[in-house]
Amino acid sequence: MYFIGIDLGTSSVKLLLTDEHMHPVRQTTRSYPLDFSADGKSEQNPADWWRAVKEGLHELTAGLAPGAVAAVGVGGQMHGLVMLDEQNRVIRPAILWNDARTGKQTDYLNQTVGKTTLQRLTGNIAFAGFTATKLLWVKEHEPQHFARCAKICLPKDYVNYMLTGVWATDVSDASGTLLFDVSHRRWSAEMLQICGLSPELLPPVYESAAPIGTLKPELGLGEGVLVCAGAGDNAAAAIGTATVRAGQCNLSLGTSGTVFVPTDEFVKPENPALHSFCHANGKYHLMGCILSAASANKWLVETVFETADYTKYAPALTEQRASGSVYFMPYLAGERCPHNDAAVRGGFVGLSLSTGRAELQTALLEGVSFAIKDCVRLIPGGIQAATVCGGGAKSELWVHILANVLETEISVIQSEGPALGAAVLAAGAAGFQPLVRPAIVKTAQPSASIAAIYRQKYAKFRTLYPALKYFYKEEA
Ligand code: XUL
Repeated sequence: MYFIGIDLGTSSVKLLLTDEHMHPVRQTTRSYPLDFSADGKSEQNPADWWRAVKEGLHELTAGLAPGAVAAVGVGGQMHGLVMLDEQNRVIRPAILWNDARTGKQTDYLNQTVGKTTLQRLTGNIAFAGFTATKLLWVKEHEPQHFARCAKICLPKDYVNYMLTGVWATDVSDASGTLLFDVSHRRWSAEMLQICGLSPELLPPVYESAAPIGTLKPELGLGEGVLVCAGAGDNAAAAIGTATVRAGQCNLSLGTSGTVFVPTDEFVKPENPALHSFCHANGKYHLMGCILSAASANKWLVETVFETADYTKYAPALTEQRASGSVYFMPYLAGERCPHNDAAVRGGFVGLSLSTGRAELQTALLEGVSFAIKDCVRLIPGGIQAATVCGGGAKSELWVHILANVLETEISVIQSEGPALGAAVLAAGAAGFQPLVRPAIVKTAQPSASIAAIYRQKYAKFRTLYPALKYFYKEEA
């Protein structure tokens, strides 16, 4: 018996076929374009996601007998707004989690409605990428589209709708809409009223492993293949990396960077820059999210250095290398945690005539690690150790830098992350309770001397945002 886990990412979709022990049997990926512009637009076409998923499914299941796959789960990029009309047609491209055009709507919610009210109703405050702020933006800028909107979907829910014909969402993804009462795991009627939104726009919400329907027979996998509600990609990654108990921490270095800490109960964080969301295992979690992580490295290596070789300019970490005087502000798409600033942008600081590519790349990996530390500092009680997943975890240098910046042991684990988590949720829908115990591939320990250098550099890094934030304000 097989399960399928699908991870609908920002640059590509990954599809994973597992056996009943959750061992990977086959996998495939398909990429799709991202429409990103300097004014903060970040959009994708849901038709591109669906084409990629359908092609991927076809390849993944070639030669399998109908009935061989018991269940499918989808995890996906969170917060994205997909709008459907009365006939369930997509009205406009999806507005993604890292779209930065909604600064005004975010300020309205945080300042006029007020952070205290938002936190009381939803457990969270407003951020530019959250679904509610984008709905307010569409209402203001594209009233013709808003008027036609009959249903909204999160990205993975659109894929689930195409797979099953069923419109639904799950608690972990609903948590990132700012329309959801996280502590009670239900939509917030009051929040809908504040945003002037009809409750009919929102889908029924389920726990992540609950079955919502079956695969459409025309997809060729037979009758009765269950599809579960699925999860936001970070909660799915946490299931796939077995980050399910209080005291654990999983870091993800993907297009975004996240710090994910499970909690047994709902926690109202002292600093609301941390998200407090439902976990996919029936519990809760805290999360810090930075908008550019491996995406910043990809930009430097592929766009600026014009190479596909990520190690070409990445030297080994030594005390001398760590003492470099170049700093990088990783705010290429604005920043979520802790600054909540859609207008800020990235930059290198401290360049000299001796700065070469190796210095730029080291500064970039350090800058993203410092931004991750900005999130870690907000976790009540801090973190004791962490696992790391995502594309950035493939860089030994980066993991080494991270261990020294965070002054903690970082383990790289062998896990298919969100795709595996989605397969585990699918197995749950089919009545299985698989145990995931990812193997540790390598562990990076901080060294006292390099950690001391980074402690000082981090203190300087923290002065950069306050010094430069006014540069990006409209009136500057
Ligand atoms: C989490 C977030 C990102 C996306 C992208 O809040 O916005 O991690 O889910 O994958």
